[in-house]
Amino acid sequence: MHKFPKFIGHRGASGFAPENTCVSMRIAKECGAQVVEFDVKKTKDSELIIMHDSSVDRTTNGHGRVIDMTLAEIKKLDAGCWFDPSFSGETIPTLKEMFSTLRHHSLGANIEIKPCPGTDIELSAQVIEFIENYWPNTLNPPLVSSFSVQALKTVREKSAQIPIGLIFDNPIPNDWKARAFDLKATAISVHHKSIENIEMIKEMHKEGYSVLAYTVNDHNLAKSLYDLEVDSIFTNYPGGFKLK
Ligand code: G3P
Ligand code: MG
Repeated sequence: MHKFPKFIGHRGASGFAPENTCVSMRIAKECGAQVVEFDVKKTKDSELIIMHDSSVDRTTNGHGRVIDMTLAEIKKLDAGCWFDPSFSGETIPTLKEMFSTLRHHSLGANIEIKPCPGTDIELSAQVIEFIENYWPNTLNPPLVSSFSVQALKTVREKSAQIPIGLIFDNPIPNDWKARAFDLKATAISVHHKSIENIEMIKEMHKEGYSVLAYTVNDHNLAKSLYDLEVDSIFTNYPGGFKLK
């Protein structure tokens, strides 16, 4: 079974810094994270950028859908001031800039493929090609995850080796075992509310999958999940609450 650190910085250190920015990754590292998670999308002109939502409205000073905007338009936006004026001037990173940040800080990654509707296949094919060409050779291979089965099938077609993380919504589907097997998954990411009992986690471990729970920002919840033998949690506050 793949070994994960006890916590993964969700969108970097998104409780302390604007999510999915390079500064958020740096702060996650300073807080003790060894691995960070971030979300990848495509712009109108097929550039890979780091962004969670389909629109830029919530996390920048701009408006509109990512899929309707070019990289040049995206790069004009301020992705920091919405969080705190002290972060103004921060921009939405390209995937290339993110890789450079990871290399600089020796940070491992969980790259989440977050397709805008209808872009699942082309986005995942492009992300895999990008990883093959540019992933820093000083770092362990990233975990590539998605809620989109179509995206992950493409990932597996393009790469036999890359570690795949299958993300499930709440509740976990009954056929989780077949889905994970088909993808030769390394990890299963589950909503913390969907974990019913320790047997469920033990069964996932028995099949060889690491179990990662999202998104956990509370010490007591983290403790109860570790007691259920969850391998790692995604948290917005890496190092920000005491973990055993
Ligand atoms: O992979 C864990 C988590 O990132 C999935 O949810 O919406 O924060 O991307 P979301
Ligand atoms: Mg995510």
